[in-house]
Amino acid sequence: MINLLVNIDEKEKSYPIIINNNDISTIKEKINNYTRGTKILVVISQKVDKLYGKTLGFCNSEKIILKDGEQEKNFKNFQKILKKAFEMGLTRKDTIIAVGGGVVGDIAGFAASTYMRGIDFIQVPTTLLACVDSSVGGKTGIDTSFGKNLLGSFYQPKAVIINTNFLKTLDDRQFKTGLGEVVKYTFIEKSCRCDEELNLTNFLSENAEKILGKNEQILEKLIEICINLKISVVRQDEKEGGLRKILNFGHTYGHAIEKITNYKKYTHGEAVVKGIEFAFKLAVKKNLIDINYKYFADDVIKMFNFKKIPDYPIEKMIKIMKMDKKADFDKITFILPTDYSQVDEFRLSGEELLGL
Ligand code: GLY
Repeated sequence: MINLLVNIDEKEKSYPIIINNNDISTIKEKINNYTRGTKILVVISQKVDKLYGKTLGFCNSEKIILKDGEQEKNFKNFQKILKKAFEMGLTRKDTIIAVGGGVVGDIAGFAASTYMRGIDFIQVPTTLLACVDSSVGGKTGIDTSFGKNLLGSFYQPKAVIINTNFLKTLDDRQFKTGLGEVVKYTFIEKSCRCDEELNLTNFLSENAEKILGKNEQILEKLIEICINLKISVVRQDEKEGGLRKILNFGHTYGHAIEKITNYKKYTHGEAVVKGIEFAFKLAVKKNLIDINYKYFADDVIKMFNFKKIPDYPIEKMIKIMKMDKKADFDKITFILPTDYSQVDEFRLSGEELLGL
């Protein structure tokens, strides 16, 4: 078992992250260590409930089951969770638990942050993407017709309980979408300013096959490295005033890919990988990096055999990227590589992207 701590300045916002591979039936007991009240409302993904509902042991009366898919991260489901919380009579001492991937975690966290001005919230991420990224750091929210995550809050959970047994039943595509975020960390590692040198790039090169084979010990270590990098960033900049923006590496273009394909054709991780490739091309065009670093990045990405995404017309992509919440005054914000495992923020005009 690995115990980590997200040590945010304000003490009451700090929380533990537990990574283990104990039997899934022990999760309920672990949750009890972090609840104060008498009631819990469990928001759980349909897939996870089908596979693990009985083993997890939550009562049907304390559960809301959400269908899977980004389209479920909507206002209607947000209202549904709140309605259930009122019907159950949840008080300010009670807790909302998210059991699922990023969609469940984000929407349940947003509901927890608004119900009675905020009640306790615990994350039990069940996908690799949620383990290494969305369950840590307190970003919560829902999508609107104007774009992804446009309603939300920064709201830290009371605990994150990761059980790697859930990862065994992820299909290849779901697993790889998480690897998309893992690969992101390797290109931003030095900029995360972590006290310890974790050397994710070496770890990936040495263990690519074992990672793809879902070797349990290697996955635990991989999750630990990624979370340590994320903790380092979130501790220094909880609300994305500056440093945290580096976690958006690959996301400006990646989000536009998701939008242009109506969030249906590619997974988030696949789109982020395409965004990372775009960022490298752009960095070469702007002379920020040596071409050899781009080739090196291509090789790292190739190790995981991500689904290939074609190039979409740059003019259309620029239009979409200008609508992103990170864009302002007609400029688009990009996180771009500047050296091995280092990135920086750049605000560019649409014209600077033409030809890519
Ligand atoms: N997923 C990016 C962040 O948590 O800031």
